Amino acid sequence: MSTHTGRKFRVGIIGGGGIAQAVHIPGWRNLPEVEIVGVADVSEATAKKAAAAAGEGTKAFTDYKELLKQNLDAVDICTPNKIHTPAALAALNAGVNVICEKPLAVTTAEVREMGELADKKKLKLMTAQHQRFTQSAQAVKGWIDAGNVGDAYHARVRATRRAWLPTAPGFIDAKLAGGGPCMDIGVHALDLCMWMMNFPKPVRVTGTAKTVFAKGHDMPNQWGEWDRERYSVEDFAAGFVHFDNGATMVLEASWMLHQVENEEIQAHVFGRKGGVDWPSGKFASAPNGVFAQGTLTHPVHVPHPHWNELAAFYDCVANGKPSPVPWTETIKVIGILEAIYQSSEQGREIVLK
Ligand SMILES: NC(=O)c1ccc[n+]([C@@H]2O[C@H](COP(=O)([O-])OP(=O)(O)OC[C@H]3O[C@@H](n4cnc5c(N)ncnc54)[C@H](O)[C@@H]3O)[C@@H](O)[C@H]2O)c1
Repeated sequence: MSTHTGRKFRVGIIGGGGIAQAVHIPGWRNLPEVEIVGVADVSEATAKKAAAAAGEGTKAFTDYKELLKQNLDAVDICTPNKIHTPAALAALNAGVNVICEKPLAVTTAEVREMGELADKKKLKLMTAQHQRFTQSAQAVKGWIDAGNVGDAYHARVRATRRAWLPTAPGFIDAKLAGGGPCMDIGVHALDLCMWMMNFPKPVRVTGTAKTVFAKGHDMPNQWGEWDRERYSVEDFAAGFVHFDNGATMVLEASWMLHQVENEEIQAHVFGRKGGVDWPSGKFASAPNGVFAQGTLTHPVHVPHPHWNELAAFYDCVANGKPSPVPWTETIKVIGILEAIYQSSEQGREIVLK
């Protein structure tokens, strides 16, 4: 593998659609140590298009099991959410390291199954939470880790859009997506916030998940029309979380609601020494009884967070480093989202083990 054996690092991509073509293929191509051996997609046309974009010699497959026979070092899973688990388990069982788009899976049972298999096989498993690799996130995390917030006792997480509902079946059909905005964009802001808080253990969750607009015709969508018959996930979710260290969190996720802003993907952490908001970098504190506030700036230029995410994954596999986004962190994130759905269905608070 890679520089150690004198050959290139062999990557396969499972799911060659939107995100694979927009950022993953260019990101892998940016790494000189890597060759994209093949792209598998159930759509032959998509597999061929993505393979052509991946470079000369990249093969197209319609069955990812055929791709897994190509002596790969790693796969990059970019399918709809519900395909993540079977594809990751097949790859790990074939002895291949895995980076997988968010959400890693839509249940904690699946995350655990993947994670324990990866550990048993001594393979790397990374959730593609690219927001951690943005310069705004690096600045806020650095400021918090330097002690400027102190004990974080509350957080506010928001992933809400005025009217940006993704229209592809992979997002709106529960059989493919496993969840709506909670799993799609809530997961970004929640992962970021949990990372900023150093991943306290969630212990109790109440939540609601409902479909307010997406079954009807009274809200325009900036991404156009969608199949209302097939629509079977929530379009709004909210939750309240208690952590074992006494901290709390409120969370809101929606693809459509009456807010002025087109999109707010935000995490605000409140501590005894200070509070800070991502991605704005705005902070507030009161040292020596004097109100202080400002905006964190980003001295390090991070042009492509997705590319940096892939480079970090390559580095962890090639150089034996820990996964940059390990399943043991992701299982806490998915545990909160899963519990919001359970609480909504069961009409009660969910106690997490
Ligand atoms: N991190 C980000 O910024 C970001 C942005 C968008 C999407 N995503 C995630 O990426 C994933 C894919 O989203 P997308 O927007 O690219 O969707 P998409 O629908 O554009 O592409 C998904 C592709 O997977 C293929 N596919 C479906 N089942 C398959 C199977 N069994 N084997 C192989 N291929 C299969 C589809 O044919 C399609 O081409 C989702 O999990 C989504 O949450 C992440």
